[in-house]
Amino acid sequence: MSEAVIKVKNLNIAYDENVIMHDINFEVKGQDIFMIMGGSGCGKSSLLKVLIGLKSPAKGQVFIQGTDFYKSNDKSRKKIMQNCGVLYQNGALFSSMTVGENIALPLQQYTTYSPSAINELVELKLALVGLHGYKTFYPDELSGGMKKRAALARAIALDPEILYFDEPSSGLDPVSSRLLDELILELNANLKTTIVIISHDIDSILTIGNQAIYLDAATKTLAAQGNPKTWLKNPPTSAIADFFKRRTEV
Ligand SMILES: Nc1ncnc2c1ncn2[C@@H]1O[C@H](COP(=O)(O)OP(=O)(O)OP(=O)(O)O)[C@@H](O)[C@H]1O
Ligand SMILES: [Mg+2]
Repeated sequence: MSEAVIKVKNLNIAYDENVIMHDINFEVKGQDIFMIMGGSGCGKSSLLKVLIGLKSPAKGQVFIQGTDFYKSNDKSRKKIMQNCGVLYQNGALFSSMTVGENIALPLQQYTTYSPSAINELVELKLALVGLHGYKTFYPDELSGGMKKRAALARAIALDPEILYFDEPSSGLDPVSSRLLDELILELNANLKTTIVIISHDIDSILTIGNQAIYLDAATKTLAAQGNPKTWLKNPPTSAIADFFKRRTEV
């Protein structure tokens, strides 16, 4: 149907001579909720860095909205990066700034909006993530789940068309995790945002994911792409079967 929003072609990722992933090929379609799965340390966060423009591929190409990212000029790269929101693995709100100041930061950096327009947008984003009234709180004054939602408000400050999450449910209790899943579903449905999520959370993968890839640590490449819901019954590889088995064992 729609053209691929992200297309990864023959990608190798390396740190110096150490190739951690090779021959990765996949596509993310518009409005997918796309899950990146795989064992700990296999290279998921490194792949995310490549997708958001922070790490050049050792080989291969990354197309974002049709543009060959690492072959394009600085101006078009910057434009693409502004269109991508990211929620990092460790949250990363600035602790010396209030929640409102954190969310205002990308708006001050990348737009010419007036302070009052920025303030209105901050209020709007806070309301969207269920944090109305918390503008003047500092990150340390929030619970883990609220911190993640505040970081999400900052990630969507510039209305990105693509939103990336690195393990959004890590460190959260199941109730907060489900709340975040609901928010992700709402953003995907209401704002038509394409969502890419690195996740270990099997409930989340099965509830909100409609596409997934599995990165295999042993072969250092992609083991499968498909709908994760079908993998529960018919796991494409034994590593994927083991991944899902953890859920029934806990
Ligand atoms: N800056 C770096 N320099 C050298 N090696 C790195 C660097 N960052 C990551 N690596 C290596 O790359 C491999 C993949 O790391 P990465 O953080 O991408 O894995 P991950 O799948 O996100 O792990 P986790 O599930 O623990 O978050 C690891 O072997 C790691 O040691
Ligand atoms: Mg990681």
